[in-house]
Amino acid sequence: MRHFLTLKDYTKDEILEILDLADEIKAQTKKGDLKLYLKDKTLAMIFEKSSTRTRVSFEVGISQLGGKALFLSSRDIQLGRGEPVKDTARVLGRMVDMIMARVYKQSDLEELAKFSGIPVINGLSDDFHPVQLMADLMTMREFGKDINSLKVAYIGDGNNMANSYILAASKLGFELRIATPKGYEPCDSVLNLAFDFAKESGAKILLSNTPQTAINEADVVVTDTWISMGQEEEKIKRVKDFNGFTIDRVLMSLAKSDAIFLHCLPAYRGYEVSEELFEAHADEIFSEAENRLHAQKAVMVWLYRRKDE
Ligand code: CP
Ligand code: NVA
Repeated sequence: MRHFLTLKDYTKDEILEILDLADEIKAQTKKGDLKLYLKDKTLAMIFEKSSTRTRVSFEVGISQLGGKALFLSSRDIQLGRGEPVKDTARVLGRMVDMIMARVYKQSDLEELAKFSGIPVINGLSDDFHPVQLMADLMTMREFGKDINSLKVAYIGDGNNMANSYILAASKLGFELRIATPKGYEPCDSVLNLAFDFAKESGAKILLSNTPQTAINEADVVVTDTWISMGQEEEKIKRVKDFNGFTIDRVLMSLAKSDAIFLHCLPAYRGYEVSEELFEAHADEIFSEAENRLHAQKAVMVWLYRRKDE
């Protein structure tokens, strides 16, 4: 059974196939003739954390494809009262066709995958946000960037988004420069895995603690919140530690003149990005948000077709 838990389980060709499908699905949607690829299928969506884009893109996405979504907040289902993940998985596996889950622990996604017997999609965990990456890559291509010769700068926290960029670069073979404050580097296990994949793909993954080094001549500049969901109590310390990492017009001027700026959202102006820079790149950022809808439809359709491999 195939799942979509991290990009480490996907080949370069498979990632590109999903991106091509996302383009096709977007075009069909815009023309008003989207095929009902998931007619009568049901997606259970488990949320342990808040969400706007992920919930709406999957819920609207499956309904456009002819299926239905069930929104299951962990506050409302027995999982939140301590029912084991593996029991929840076995029940859902007998009632629905696919699961998308936003959770704290990556191991809970693995448990859902192991016990449900149906495809499971990671809608964000503390470690990875692979469905966001599909929308980001789709947006880069739409804005004319060639994935094979890209230089991407990721500036900020070495978090789930950074980890997902590392895996994407290592599979697709692009150059990724990451700048984090000291002590906020991405975890070694993800980096080691990526350095291994990079031997085959030719990816370059460079780490530094200076945003100026990372952003120099970049084609795409990416950031994310300094305070991820679940880290609210660290806010004061993090804001202090990330001083100097705000992406503003001056920092962005070091990137290529036609560089695009992406942010998975929600964005916190005055912290990871200035209001001025955010608004100057709003078209790119909200195209990225819109592409969640089409990329997430592509992930569901592709996975459902290939689930038995
Ligand atoms: N980018 C993203 O996943 O947004 P939500 O938290 O609103 O789903
Ligand atoms: N890193 C952020 C991403 C939100 C979409 C978080 O985990 O909260």
